[in-house]
Amino acid sequence: MNNKSLSEIQKKAENFITGGMSSSFRANFYNGLPMYAKKAKGARFTDCTGKEFIDFFMCNGSVILGHNRDEIKSALHDVIEKGFYAGFDDWTTISLAQKICESVPAAEQIRFVNSGTEGTLLALRLARGHTDRDIVIRIDGHYHGCQDYLFANNLVSKIDQNNDGSKRSKTIGRTSGVPEAIDSLVVTIPWNNFEILEKVLLEEEGKVAGIIMNVIDYNNGVFLTTSEYLNFTKEQAKKYGIVLIFDEVLSGFKTGISCGQGHYGVIPDLCIIGKALSNNVPLGVVAGKKEVMKNIMDPIDPVVAGGTFSGNQFGVAAGNASLKILKQKDFYKNFLTRADEFYENIKSIFDHRGLPAVVQHLGAGFHIFLGTDEPIKKYVDLNRVDRELTKNFFNICIENGLYFHTDFTISEAHDEITLNEALEKIETAVKKIKY
Ligand SMILES: Cc1ncc(COP(=O)(O)O)c(C=O)c1O
Repeated sequence: MNNKSLSEIQKKAENFITGGMSSSFRANFYNGLPMYAKKAKGARFTDCTGKEFIDFFMCNGSVILGHNRDEIKSALHDVIEKGFYAGFDDWTTISLAQKICESVPAAEQIRFVNSGTEGTLLALRLARGHTDRDIVIRIDGHYHGCQDYLFANNLVSKIDQNNDGSKRSKTIGRTSGVPEAIDSLVVTIPWNNFEILEKVLLEEEGKVAGIIMNVIDYNNGVFLTTSEYLNFTKEQAKKYGIVLIFDEVLSGFKTGISCGQGHYGVIPDLCIIGKALSNNVPLGVVAGKKEVMKNIMDPIDPVVAGGTFSGNQFGVAAGNASLKILKQKDFYKNFLTRADEFYENIKSIFDHRGLPAVVQHLGAGFHIFLGTDEPIKKYVDLNRVDRELTKNFFNICIENGLYFHTDFTISEAHDEITLNEALEKIETAVKKIKY
């Protein structure tokens, strides 16, 4: 395969895998080509053509400790050594559950699943089961996995552009195969708007089971909320007996051990974590208040939750190994200080070269917008971004060995040497593009 280009590999793959890729989100956001990799270590990976990249994709933000980390590898080896038995829990399962309950504020109890999508599905079912109501409120543009209830309006490219914030958003991009009937069960509203939330809750009084949102929106390029808005949402949810759900699949462990909810100091009724929890080994968790979680077992299965691979031992072993590292004193202080310096240095390169740019960041997640100097705070601000320029810039970066795709992440393995090399390559790309 070594002498084939990525597009040739895709052609070959297309014979057997639809589209030549195992996830339809794998085609690179800038050059359209799915990546085929052959090995990865630390902050770098090598593609199937033999080209090496510094990775800022980090598997959609899952690899917070770096690829192929020794501690994780050894934990996976231990699972193989003891005999990989699926379908049973053991002490390692209990130990990880305890660690999560000690770290994530909302987690009084947890259930393991295998992915973020499975987690958001279970969280919605729990909210509905707990309240005996059907409607779920979600935020226009927030991503919650590839699932039927929440697939429409799940990215900024699919928000209701005609909504000035004063009304419910129209359903955009439901995707064929999802019944229209779903729309009557989901109300979509713009984020960070107090009035519309209050209005919809009054209009739908007695019908809303849950409100789901991302605490930090890394999916669209680091968009933030406020403690005031989250607290207001929590108060409103309490007033109407609604389950508040924070999707922390991507934001979990990016700002600290207590996740986005700890960062903002607002504890939801339920949350979903995954990705960085197990440093990229498949695992998901629904965590929350006992009062809500107990619906799974009170008295027997009112809200069914289960699966052959739930709590799979590879994910659990990786989760135990990851949390042990993430919980170390000063882990976040050292790693995030380095990340913040890197973001500042990128901005300096753009400023020095007179290229209008915004480097948006929080914790381990960041994004670069070109063509504007003004902060990008709301989705509508994206209209100021020069899309062509941005695309050209990232294509040059990719050609030069910096891999960017959808959301950007720094891992602890991005050491100073790697980040300095990345800065040099960014500077080269800035010199090359026309603006
Ligand atoms: C915020 C958020 N929620 C849910 C998911 C779905 O997780 P998974 O891809 O593991 O199913 C993702 C994945 O990108 C995500 O970013």
